[in-house]
Amino acid sequence: MKDGYGREINYLRISLTDRCNLRCRYCMPDGITPVEHCQILTYEEILRVAECAVSLGITRFKLTGGEPLVRRDCPQLAAKLKALPGVEQVTLTTNGILLPLHLDELAKAGLDGVNVSIDALCPERYSAITGWRGETPDWEELLRRCVKQSWNTKVNVVLQQENRTEWALLARLAERLPVDVRFIELMPLGYGGKCDSVGAEKALEELKQFWPDLHPVQEHRGNGPARYFAAQGLRGRIGLIDAVSHKFCANCNRVRLTSTGWLKPCLCYEEGTDLRALLRSGCDNRMLTAAIAEAISRKPAAHCFEQRSQITEHKTMSQIGG
Ligand code: GTP
Ligand code: 5AD
Ligand code: SF4
Repeated sequence: MKDGYGREINYLRISLTDRCNLRCRYCMPDGITPVEHCQILTYEEILRVAECAVSLGITRFKLTGGEPLVRRDCPQLAAKLKALPGVEQVTLTTNGILLPLHLDELAKAGLDGVNVSIDALCPERYSAITGWRGETPDWEELLRRCVKQSWNTKVNVVLQQENRTEWALLARLAERLPVDVRFIELMPLGYGGKCDSVGAEKALEELKQFWPDLHPVQEHRGNGPARYFAAQGLRGRIGLIDAVSHKFCANCNRVRLTSTGWLKPCLCYEEGTDLRALLRSGCDNRMLTAAIAEAISRKPAAHCFEQRSQITEHKTMSQIGG
């Protein structure tokens, strides 16, 4: 369906949990007090929301967290979502730590794509940014396995001063594998507002030293807001997700469902609709669909990252779903 500004909304990000096995410094460096299990939507409830969303033309779903793979049976949910009549695409955004364990099940579920967040390849730097103390997967091997499943595979790198020396190394993954490597500007949400950010143009400038012919391409490579660039020798693309320096809200196609069932029309604002209350009040699908449609019709025109005092969302990214 179209929102109040004529934008076609066809994509729902579903956060399965606010929990995460990492402690990224821009997200939840000290952890969070996790929401009690009874407050989290059950998979049955999520599937009902998805069914109603499909009836409104929302046919693409992204599973997010926190870390979606820390919730039990995530692949089973992906399979059930994928099997809903009318669903075109189910993709996953993960920090990748648990992906080697669940990859085969996710493939069986019919997953269409995966975005893996890798802020640094150097284990020490990775640990400093994410708080992870364990062993890290062999990233290249993991991405290779994803590509082998014919998944649309992307790497997410949040731009920080701390990983600056790694940008080119990370971009080089797109040289060896047909994966897109996307550089994301830090958004001033939650702890993100307290960390130093680096503009995406800066990253592009640095990458051009390695790939001087890096040039924009108008390819459609996902449902997200990334702008893509190609260069000779790169099998994948370089992407920029520059929400702060380039407002892409005019083309926004999405709404978000938090793990507690709060339907959020925009990342930047707390305003939304309590679908959990509706679901648990015994509403029928007609009422649920009407509530989703109403939230979409109230989707704001744009975020207000440039005027921080107007941001009404104070949750961490893990509680919002990224
Ligand atoms: P695909 O390319 O289709 O996989 O989607 P995506 O880029 O939306 O997926 P992903 O979950 O990997 O998100 C990448 C980054 O984009 C994260 O930092 C998100 O917070 C950010 N992002 C996703 N949607 C929006 C949005 O609507 N607005 C803003 N400002 N940022 C977004
Ligand atoms: N700004 C931009 N991206 C963020 N992510 C988490 N917090 C922020 C933020 N404040 C990223 C994660 C992951 C994706 C879902 O969102 O690193 O790649
Ligand atoms: Fe976990 Fe993602 Fe937050 Fe990092 S950014 S702590 S991986 S939810």
